[in-house]
Amino acid sequence: MCDVTFCFLYSVELLRWCKMRLCVLFMFVVVLGVYVEHTDTNPDVCSTLTVSHKSLLVEYGELVELTCSISSKPSSEFILGWESQINPVQTGSETSLVWRASSLTQWEMNRREMFCYLSVPSTEQCKQKVHLNLYKRPDSVKISSESIVWSEGQMMKLKCEIENVGPLQNLTVQWTRVDQNNNMTEMPYGSFRASGEERKNGNVTSTLTVSASRDEDEVQYQCAALLKLDQLQPQVRSSERLKLTVHYKPTITQLSSGTISLTQGDELVLNCSAHGNPSPQYFWNLPGNKNLTTSFIFINSVKSDDQGQYICTAYNDEGSDSLTVVVHVAVDYKLIIIAVCAVVGVVGLLILSWWYCYRCTCSATVSRRT
Ligand SMILES: *[C@@H]1O[C@H](CO)[C@@H](O)[C@H](O)[C@H]1NC(C)=O
Ligand SMILES: *[C@@H]1O[C@H](CO)[C@@H](O)[C@H](O)[C@H]1NC(C)=O
Ligand SMILES: *[C@@H]1O[C@H](CO)[C@@H](O)[C@H](O)[C@H]1NC(C)=O
Ligand SMILES: *[C@@H]1O[C@H](CO)[C@@H](O)[C@H](O)[C@H]1NC(C)=O
Repeated sequence: MCDVTFCFLYSVELLRWCKMRLCVLFMFVVVLGVYVEHTDTNPDVCSTLTVSHKSLLVEYGELVELTCSISSKPSSEFILGWESQINPVQTGSETSLVWRASSLTQWEMNRREMFCYLSVPSTEQCKQKVHLNLYKRPDSVKISSESIVWSEGQMMKLKCEIENVGPLQNLTVQWTRVDQNNNMTEMPYGSFRASGEERKNGNVTSTLTVSASRDEDEVQYQCAALLKLDQLQPQVRSSERLKLTVHYKPTITQLSSGTISLTQGDELVLNCSAHGNPSPQYFWNLPGNKNLTTSFIFINSVKSDDQGQYICTAYNDEGSDSLTVVVHVAVDYKLIIIAVCAVVGVVGLLILSWWYCYRCTCSATVSRRT
């Protein structure tokens, strides 16, 4: 049974006990509150996590340094680190951390994720990603042709050899034609053959086929390796220019075949100039089976002997072109008429004077008789 006094005393005791507990509970709540407040500050630290580059173009073999930092140290333990396939690093004491690769040659870095992280116990890890773009400029870009001198109608094969370039998947080959007036035209590019993995470096050969026409003579070709990378202008490396020579047979340009009618004493001009490569040589076959080896014929005053066929042939190693001009030389009738008139005049005068003299002699004889 419960005595009243005992009960009272017991209640007081219970109350005291409870007070203590409350105090402990209170302290626990306070401690918890401080702890919660403390962990609440970490997301702010997270937002100050910065990296020196979000993405970086790296030339093959170059030194790379990336810095990751936070504004201040978290109040609890922490780890600041770089996660990477190569040279991962971490710190538990510094607010800034450098990731370094003294000579980056790992093509895998182009695909693998790399990031800086901050870890604080019982919170989620925060990260900043970095995208590395490794590329390699070609060691050399060379243009060549099976032959430098081509004959009209042949298919000219030009080759562009690009050595040690990468990543191959980002490479295109550009062909440029530079004409005699230095006018540049981009060519649709030819075949493309690569040795090596497409995500890495390797050698590339591109072939361009052009039909050798006379317009291609003295034209220059050039090829260039274009690495198209995300952040930058394409990285370009060009070859030397290759000048081609196209040999073609002559075409007579200045003269056309046909008939020329002249009058004796006229001038005869025939210019059989032709286009051809190498420079054409000429051969004229003239009336009377005479021959000339000039391109040009000039006769100051034509005679009837000059009448006939004039055949010009322009030739070189590639072939020839020839044409025929027929020359008619008409007699000059004015001269004949003048000559005839002169003759008629002279004869008339002679007859007249003879007749006059005859009459004189006659009358003298008649008068002597009478
Ligand atoms: C350059 O070439 C292009 C294409 O062949 C042509 O349209 C243009 O007239 C040329 N320009 C000159 C200055 O020759
Ligand atoms: C590229 O060419 C160079 C020189 O010709 C050679 O040493 C190298 O092995 C070639 N690389 C590949 C991937 O074929
Ligand atoms: C013949 O024609 C060519 C081409 O027009 C010209 O260059 C050359 O001077 C001419 N020849 C003569 C002797 O006039
Ligand atoms: C001129 O050339 C023709 C044809 O080649 C030849 O038959 C002829 O004998 C040559 N005439 C002279 C005078 O050389």
